[in-house]
Amino acid sequence: MKLGVLASGTGTNLQAILDRVHGREGVEVVAVASDQPSAKALKRARSAGVPTAVFAQDQYAARADRDRAMAEWLAERGVELVVLAGYMRLLSPEFLERFPQRVINVHPALLPAFPGLDAVDQALAYGVKVFGATIHFVDEGVDSGAIIFQRGVELADATNADEVMAAIRPIEHELLCRAILAISRGAVSGDPDHPRRVVVRDRA
Ligand code: GRF
Repeated sequence: MKLGVLASGTGTNLQAILDRVHGREGVEVVAVASDQPSAKALKRARSAGVPTAVFAQDQYAARADRDRAMAEWLAERGVELVVLAGYMRLLSPEFLERFPQRVINVHPALLPAFPGLDAVDQALAYGVKVFGATIHFVDEGVDSGAIIFQRGVELADATNADEVMAAIRPIEHELLCRAILAISRGAVSGDPDHPRRVVVRDRA
């Protein structure tokens, strides 16, 4: 299965994919794209010998144009699963139609709580005691697609986002890699009796 990864920032999730999934069980990262020319994720991809491209919004008249160019670039490389690994933009409906049920995202909260930007700050502001991470399919909403994996972590005394992210990051990396491998094995499907429920048959 050929993966395309979209990342806007540091790229620790991308790094986990490169280290733990790339080249394993026939899964290969074949393309990494960003909206940010300076994203550290691009450097990580280049170091691993993976082709990169930047699709900066100011180079395009509209979001749909930018997403079309990005979808084209990914499709040319044969991408079968698109992984949003810290990609901070909404994708156009047209992009999602091009990769139906083939775009997944990692989010640093237990959805449906705290969707959107600054999820950890939202959770801290709310005063929660349990934080967590979610891997989900991407639909047209904001972090609203069907959930593949989730795990919580109790941090009753947490007061700042760095502390929370330090606990959540390893969970994100583990669950994201697991989700990619499970999808590549054909072990992830929808429950025919429940439109939102995702069934994962292998727990490796
Ligand atoms: C992660 O916390 C992810 O949940 C969110 O953006 C962050 C990306 O981190 N969507 P990194 O760039 O993979 O280190």
